[in-house]
Amino acid sequence: MKSPFRYPGNKTALLDPIMARLEPHLDRARIYLEPFVGGGSVALAVAQRYADLEIVLADADPNVADFWSVLIGCEATFLRLLRLLQVPPCMSMGHRVRHHLTRDPFLRAYQCLFINRVTFSGGVFNTGLLARGTGDGIRARYNAADLARCMIAARAALRGRTTVHSMDVMYSLHLPFDVVYLDPPYIAHGANIYRASMCEHQHRVLGDTLKRLRRPWLLSYDDQPLVRDLYQGCRIETVSVPHWVRRTMKRKKRVELLIEPTGGGAQ
Ligand SMILES: C[S@@+](CC[C@H](N)C(=O)[O-])C[C@H]1O[C@@H](n2cnc3c(N)ncnc32)[C@H](O)[C@@H]1O
Repeated sequence: MKSPFRYPGNKTALLDPIMARLEPHLDRARIYLEPFVGGGSVALAVAQRYADLEIVLADADPNVADFWSVLIGCEATFLRLLRLLQVPPCMSMGHRVRHHLTRDPFLRAYQCLFINRVTFSGGVFNTGLLARGTGDGIRARYNAADLARCMIAARAALRGRTTVHSMDVMYSLHLPFDVVYLDPPYIAHGANIYRASMCEHQHRVLGDTLKRLRRPWLLSYDDQPLVRDLYQGCRIETVSVPHWVRRTMKRKKRVELLIEPTGGGAQ
């Protein structure tokens, strides 16, 4: 199932290896937790394959959490969001939405997906708008009908069994769950890509916490010396992800790590 987002660092290309590692645990689980949900590519795959699973999603970026909350929330508000997203973007709208500060969960949900679709990198906050010279300019990545299709399918998969929290990973790990998949911001560039990111200390605290966790967990990371150091003693596998480099329009491979506790983390 396709996410409505073009999220930087999304795991669409890694779904097969991720699901292969999660499935043995999901088969026995009642509650699945994803504390860095972002564009939700893995959460949607899990929801699609496991119809009876309770799903808990969280993200430290309140706009991201508000998007998923509105997606699974009351029908009238969801339909209002769909209608608003049908308005095709223009540059002045792009500037206005991008710079609008709001605490309204509905507007934040709109802002989150709108900005994601009209910026260069698919960022969800202050990255540059797609401009003339990039195909259709600001509309180049904005297909309103496709967005509506993705959102309706995602709502059908998640609604009635999903809860969403706007919180830091260290809080979400205290929620009840049987298996957790974590996709933290990249160590190398996370601070430039996401509104919420993590400093080295937070990456270290997360590593210490996971290594003590007595439940199954799976983690994806960029291949950095800090990560290999933090997760010594765990099972670390290298997977390569094909991706387009926009500047050269060439397909390249990026390496990511999938990390699990040895022994599966079961109690
Ligand atoms: C790599 S992205 C997740 C991408 C997602 N797996 C996907 O497929 O779209 C990391 C996410 O973590 C969130 N984040 C950053 N720091 C966080 C923290 N300390 N606690 C929870 N979420 C955080 C960011 O807002 C971002 O949405």
